[in-house]
Amino acid sequence: MSDLDYLKRLHRNPSPLLLELEQRGHADDIPIVDRETGRLLSTLVHAMQANRILEIGTAYGYSTLWMALAMPPAGRLWTIDPDTSRTAIALDFLRRAGKFDQVNVLNQPALEVLPTFPVRNLDIVFIDAVKTEYEEYLALTVPLLKRSGLVVVDNLLWHGRAAANPASGDADTTIAIRNFNRTFLNHPQLDATIVPVGDGVGIGARIE
Ligand SMILES: C[S@@+](CC[C@H](N)C(=O)[O-])C[C@H]1O[C@@H](n2cnc3c(N)ncnc32)[C@H](O)[C@@H]1O
Repeated sequence: MSDLDYLKRLHRNPSPLLLELEQRGHADDIPIVDRETGRLLSTLVHAMQANRILEIGTAYGYSTLWMALAMPPAGRLWTIDPDTSRTAIALDFLRRAGKFDQVNVLNQPALEVLPTFPVRNLDIVFIDAVKTEYEEYLALTVPLLKRSGLVVVDNLLWHGRAAANPASGDADTTIAIRNFNRTFLNHPQLDATIVPVGDGVGIGARIE
């Protein structure tokens, strides 16, 4: 058995609602985070008792629900996605989880929302939307984090394509992820690392 299979079997199943949403996402071919990434988000939110969370890229709200379920009762989560047909499903699951009142869905492109986003001292920013915009999301959200707050970023291995030998035919997304990874790991205001969980998760703590 591989290490990953061993760990998959060892962990408890997520709650029935998370499982239902996970299955719905897979059935509809929605690019939701891997289950282990959801678990990691949940642990981070619990550890930090994160009260203010910003997510970029809601889709059906699978990662949103992992984080919302781990938030303290006074916590708030803002999540951005212009696709209202997807976020309607997210809102339905959040309502069923009793988390509807703690979550605000913003149905606009992130680059329209972020320059005037009014909340400061965020505990966690989770980035999981347009890969070619990751560098801009990072530049716009690091100033919104509290000192010691975390920016968490999904898909930094980009399904094996980031690590492949660079070639002239590489897609813009692959090039964007490689560039982002260098920026992220060398960011002067972050202590950042990328861990091989799911599709590669970046975790950066604001230190300045
Ligand atoms: C990878 S999915 C998010 C998955 C979600 N975080 C999860 O794990 O359940 C990316 C989402 O980004 C959304 N998106 C596309 N353009 C966007 C934009 N300009 N700003 C914010 N979100 C965008 C898409 O509609 C899509 O639902």
